[in-house]
Amino acid sequence: MADTSNAPSPRDLEQAFSLFNEASAQLANAYNDLEQQVARLSAELAVANGELRRQYEEKEALSQRLAHLLAALPGGVVVLDAQGRVAQCNPAAREMLDLDPTGRPWNEVAASRLQASRGAQEWALCGQEGGGALRWVTLSMSPLDSAGGRALLLTEITEARRLGEQLEQHRRLSSMGEMAAGLAHQLRTPLATALLYAGNLARPALADGDRVRFAERAQARLRDLERMIQDMLTFVRGAPAAQEEIDVAQLLQAVTHTIEPQMHAAGVAFRTRIAVGPSRLHGNRKALQGALINLLENALQACAGGTGAVELEVRAGGGRLRIRVQDNGPGMDAATLDRLFEPFFTTRQEGTGLGLAIVRSVAQAHGGEVEVESAPGRGALFTLAVPLADER
Ligand SMILES: Nc1ncnc2c1ncn2[C@@H]1O[C@H](COP(=O)(O)OP(=O)(O)OP(=O)(O)O)[C@@H](O)[C@H]1O
Ligand SMILES: [Mg+2]
Repeated sequence: MADTSNAPSPRDLEQAFSLFNEASAQLANAYNDLEQQVARLSAELAVANGELRRQYEEKEALSQRLAHLLAALPGGVVVLDAQGRVAQCNPAAREMLDLDPTGRPWNEVAASRLQASRGAQEWALCGQEGGGALRWVTLSMSPLDSAGGRALLLTEITEARRLGEQLEQHRRLSSMGEMAAGLAHQLRTPLATALLYAGNLARPALADGDRVRFAERAQARLRDLERMIQDMLTFVRGAPAAQEEIDVAQLLQAVTHTIEPQMHAAGVAFRTRIAVGPSRLHGNRKALQGALINLLENALQACAGGTGAVELEVRAGGGRLRIRVQDNGPGMDAATLDRLFEPFFTTRQEGTGLGLAIVRSVAQAHGGEVEVESAPGRGALFTLAVPLADER
């Protein structure tokens, strides 16, 4: 009779056992493999962690070194974020500004602690007056990161500035000494004429009309003397330190109003080409006005009569105001060009030779310079360039 039950035969069982054994051996192998992989990955992870820790420690040490460096720097360092707020600053910056600016907008801090001078190139520190003389700094800004952060460096220049002023004073005094003989000569002529007229005034039989005439002439010569002495003092002292906001258009208007009637009277064609929008300078209005009038008077004197023409051209660019005074006069040879700015150098009989020396010292006192281009028969072009006042 055939076996119809579903019970496995011993053979089936044997087969099943052997399959089971095979499968469990495979599982054991796979488990071993997995264990090995886990061990390998753990080792790799440990190495990667070690590397990360090393990098972190290096960065930490670097940032500590940077912090020490910032703290030790004599210059003030202020770090601004993209919004212009102070994110960080070093002790030197806190000491210079006399406050901790961290978290405040830099514009606000600058407005309350810094005062611009010399066309905003140099800044006086506010709130330090109690401790003696004013302290001065320069500012330089550089980009720090792609997010718009910036670093500001405040460098103290008080001592350099004091030495520079002293040097300039010495330079002026020594050229003063050298030129004292020239000065005596300059003063002697109008003084002698004034004495002559004054002597005439003392004559008892003088008609009233003559008396008035002599008195007027004596006065005119004395006024010349006064102007010469005034010019000399301006030169020796350098441009007075008054710091004002000067509106460029107003300055130019005052200058042209003074010079236009003189040009007209001398028959010189005077043209102005003013190509500047509203702009301002920092400095001494009277000194700058005087310097420009000196240049224009020289141009006028050089080309007076006949077909004389003078042009005043004013432009702004690169943070500077450029004032050009051009004439179509006889121009200058190399020897004159060489000595032009020396105090008391003059080729005009009634000149003092202080005009251009004053122009140069005024230009320098405003952080600018004066240049000349000329050749015999080709007229002359003087360019006075001074920094414009810019926004902080
Ligand atoms: N535009 C010019 N063309 C030709 N020569 C000039 C011109 N400007 C100046 N000079 C020369 O430079 C000299 C010095 O000029 P500066 O203005 O210093 O003195 P000055 O005009 O002679 O005297 P002051 O200005 O004191 O009355 C002049 O005497 C002249 O020889
Ligand atoms: Mg002159």
